[in-house]
Amino acid sequence: MEDKKKATAIANDPRKVFGRSPDQHILNVVRESCQEAFNLPSFETTLQTIKSHFFDRNYDAVFQNPEHLPVYSARYAPSRALCYYHLFMAHPILMKTLEGPSTILCIGSGAGSELVGISAAMVHANPVVKVKKVKKVSTKAGKGEAEEMAKDTKDTKDTNGAEETTTTLGMENLAVSVESTQDPSSPTEASEITPVPTTTKTKAKKPKVNKHQVTIVMQDYVNWSPILEPMEAVVRSRMVLGPERLQCETEVGNVLDLSEGLLERVAKADLITFMFVLNELFQDKKRTMLLVAKIVAAMPSGAHMLVVDSAGSFSNLKVGERTYMVYMLLDHLKSLEVVYQDDSTWYRCPPSLTYPLKLENMRHFVRIYKKL
Ligand SMILES: C[S@@+](CC[C@H](N)C(=O)[O-])C[C@H]1O[C@@H](n2cnc3c(N)ncnc32)[C@H](O)[C@@H]1O
Repeated sequence: MEDKKKATAIANDPRKVFGRSPDQHILNVVRESCQEAFNLPSFETTLQTIKSHFFDRNYDAVFQNPEHLPVYSARYAPSRALCYYHLFMAHPILMKTLEGPSTILCIGSGAGSELVGISAAMVHANPVVKVKKVKKVSTKAGKGEAEEMAKDTKDTKDTNGAEETTTTLGMENLAVSVESTQDPSSPTEASEITPVPTTTKTKAKKPKVNKHQVTIVMQDYVNWSPILEPMEAVVRSRMVLGPERLQCETEVGNVLDLSEGLLERVAKADLITFMFVLNELFQDKKRTMLLVAKIVAAMPSGAHMLVVDSAGSFSNLKVGERTYMVYMLLDHLKSLEVVYQDDSTWYRCPPSLTYPLKLENMRHFVRIYKKL
């Protein structure tokens, strides 16, 4: 109990979690997670093989060889994680998702960049803390306190139907009601007190759900668990994110197969991300167009989609004689509102950062969409 209190207190103070440099801390997390890869004698030759497959746009050859995966993560996850961290920090709409409860479905995220970058941003997201409303307020000493509290609070109902008071801790612009919209039987929600039995159906009183939990679903067509499992452990320990705050799930399958399971995940997600994966998927134009249409149709109204990818020719999409950027297809979908757009921006790694490999600056486009 003492430990839990301490962890919460530290997690609410990014300076204590990150020290002086969040960026360097993020890189240290990736380095620690990928230590085994750096020790591989074949690291350099494997990296050259990966690069030449990328040059040929032979993505299956990059990712379908398990020997490539640790090297890929060690090389590409650090700058991407930094880029995604800063991207989330720059957009209140994304930070709001990180207050929880929420589910973020990350397509093609096996390499761990999303896990590290989003988790780091979570450290800054001040969850809305609920305090049980005091029904009878003492008319003497307690009154002044109650009035003070009332200034900063608004009433909401919790998922059990009980009256509660919502108080924000800083980042006022990000304050939201935390009324849960999720199915209470969803496996993404965990009990604060006792674990929710997943197999037994019972009519007993609903357990309390954790209001600040963020579930990151890492979807990928390759099994990245040998990389993701140690990475999750390092993230939890170095970013002080316990299971009550962060849940990690993985989903292995070709997203283009459009499985029922995938669409069920989409229907429960508050945010869906496509980070440096959409242009790979568009190698198969027909199936990717269908994927996009089905995902957008399955998204709940009000959910967001974040798309980030190369701002260069890698994101070109040829339709007939004309060439478009992949985001143009999404921009024109009637049921998506473009909430934020940037056709070309740079993430430049500060030169003061240290990492065993050269860090890559990234020119990319960004789109944030909202399902209408
Ligand atoms: C260029 S990497 C990007 C990884 C990660 N999103 C990042 O930003 O570092 C593309 C990822 O998408 C995955 N991927 C490629 N095709 C896929 C598909 N059809 N279904 C699911 N995942 C796929 C790969 O395994 C790889 O992890």
